[in-house]
Amino acid sequence: EKSWVRIVTGQTPTNIAVIKYWGKRDENLILPINDSISVTLDPNHLCTTTTVAVSPAFDKDRMWLNGKEISLAGDRFQNCLREIRKRATDVEEEEKGIKIAKKDWENLHVHIASYNNFPTAAGLASSAAGLACLVFSLARLMNVKEDQGQLSAIARQGSGSACRSLYGGFVKWIMGKSEDGSDSFAVQVTDEKHWDDLVILIAVVSSQQKETSSTSGMRESVETSLLLKHRAQEIVPKRILQMEEAIKNKDFPSFARLTCADSNQFHATCLDTTPPIFYMNDTSHKIISIVEKWNRAETTPQVAYTFDAGPNAVLIARDRKAATQLLQRMLYYFPPGADADLNSFVVGDKSILQ
Ligand code: PMV
Repeated sequence: EKSWVRIVTGQTPTNIAVIKYWGKRDENLILPINDSISVTLDPNHLCTTTTVAVSPAFDKDRMWLNGKEISLAGDRFQNCLREIRKRATDVEEEEKGIKIAKKDWENLHVHIASYNNFPTAAGLASSAAGLACLVFSLARLMNVKEDQGQLSAIARQGSGSACRSLYGGFVKWIMGKSEDGSDSFAVQVTDEKHWDDLVILIAVVSSQQKETSSTSGMRESVETSLLLKHRAQEIVPKRILQMEEAIKNKDFPSFARLTCADSNQFHATCLDTTPPIFYMNDTSHKIISIVEKWNRAETTPQVAYTFDAGPNAVLIARDRKAATQLLQRMLYYFPPGADADLNSFVVGDKSILQ
């Protein structure tokens, strides 16, 4: 039999939550205990590029991350692969002599090569970009006809936050009510052109892998934190509505207030967990103080901060002028040098999936 290879490459940016997802009600299907909202970054700065290939010559599914082979045995990869394979359709590439019928996909294996252009597992939501990109690229490879919303529900089963990376701009992950997760998917709130004054700057405090994975951190918080329960039931539903309003109206003062408060409450629930989880460090706390003092000294807030499950600061400036001032302040308080507290900055504008 004549051998062939069909190859598809996809690129997916990471996303940063401004109303955080923390806590699952179903660990296997990855169903959250509250809605969340994020902003998708510019793919030029923080993204995953994934090339997927299929060939009758491949004898098993294999994956490489940043050039190193990793196991695909975990449930999350398997769930995504299974859900995409189920929806595969006929593919024909005449000039290459490729003809794959729907039923052939069951017996064909894929090779996956994925690269992050930013530190993996350091609180820069690498799993979000990675799993979203995997699902997006495999769906293209297998000619899956599902829309972005349905693909987001599949990506969700790889990593919760991944479902929000299938859209650009501001994105909401609706928690859903069903037991099977069919109504737990992402929708776009506003597209990437809507609020293009915003400039996002990431202060890389540490590119080390985090100590507590988000999976075990969430599990411990759900099991032990009363604050998390209160947050999910009483606080987040109202905040989601206010955040959607702030985004639609480009109301930066409200946006900044909600973003900072939600980040701080998420880290408070981590502290309220037994044993307590610390994702931020002294440098993170110093950044919060600097931004808080600056915002208070101005007539209106200039910058919002938010931290995920790691010490790196995501700083969202209201415009380019504020971003320039922010960078100047950061370089003043954290002078670059041999044992600097801050390693580097990554600048990203919000943008669209390519
Ligand atoms: O999807 P995960 O398991 O990487 O969890 C992400 C959790 C946070 O980044 C802390 C919050 C969020 O909504 O992205």
